[in-house]
Amino acid sequence: MTPDPGALLDLAVDVAHEAGRLVRDRRDAVDRITVSATKSTPTDVVTESDTAAEALIRRRLLSARPGDGLLGEEGATVTGGSGVAWVVDPIDGTVNYLYDIPQYAVSIAAQVDGRTVAGVVHNPASGQTWAATRGRGARLDGRLVRESGCDRLDRALVATGFGYDSARRAAQADVLRAVLPRVRDVRRLGAASLDLCGVATGWFDAYYERGLAPWDLAAGALVAEEAGVLVEGLGGAAPGPEIVIAAGPALFPALHDLLASLGASRDG
Ligand code: IPD
Repeated sequence: MTPDPGALLDLAVDVAHEAGRLVRDRRDAVDRITVSATKSTPTDVVTESDTAAEALIRRRLLSARPGDGLLGEEGATVTGGSGVAWVVDPIDGTVNYLYDIPQYAVSIAAQVDGRTVAGVVHNPASGQTWAATRGRGARLDGRLVRESGCDRLDRALVATGFGYDSARRAAQADVLRAVLPRVRDVRRLGAASLDLCGVATGWFDAYYERGLAPWDLAAGALVAEEAGVLVEGLGGAAPGPEIVIAAGPALFPALHDLLASLGASRDG
């Protein structure tokens, strides 16, 4: 039987709120959060809150729906047999969390046969929750959201992000140097899922980033698409690690062509 995306979303929202409380309570309990491990580079950090939140999310989702698969940023990989797989970032924006900058999120997406059908992005510091099911629009705290409609690159407020690897960051800085004079301004807030939700809500006109993992992207991309945003790679490719470009249809071609001309999907 095909799972109901609305039911998957309800479960994801409940679990994201529960994980968000854990993450926020742990942050409030101490002045400084301890780094428990590093991943790709010494600045790609993991805290005990990331690990504890992922364990909670995994436990709650799979006890409600045994048989589902799950892919989590902190290492959870469960191969399911139900056709539903969850893609989870327990804390997107871990560096913001470390510094107590209120710009991080619990991101949970439900995929059916590899396609995201429901997604939630919850910022436990602000209390805001974006939620979407495919074909039924995107909501921020229950209110429908829509992209800005911006149609001029030189008036566009563009969010972006950087990877953890220093060679990649140098290439990203070169691209940014060429983008900055051509747009209204640039924002780097530090959580890809919230950047995508920001485009969905009209807080930014566009977003691009190279190097995103599935857990950074899955839920936020659905929220953005359901708010009228095109979320793609270069030349109509699917968005992914090479590059993610998100903008409304009136702005997308100009940003896409600029990024393509700058080789933004390559590391220099
Ligand atoms: C990171 C954030 C950041 C983006 C990086 C991501 P993490 O996720 O989303 O904004 O620039 O590419 O890796 O490591 O905080 O979960």
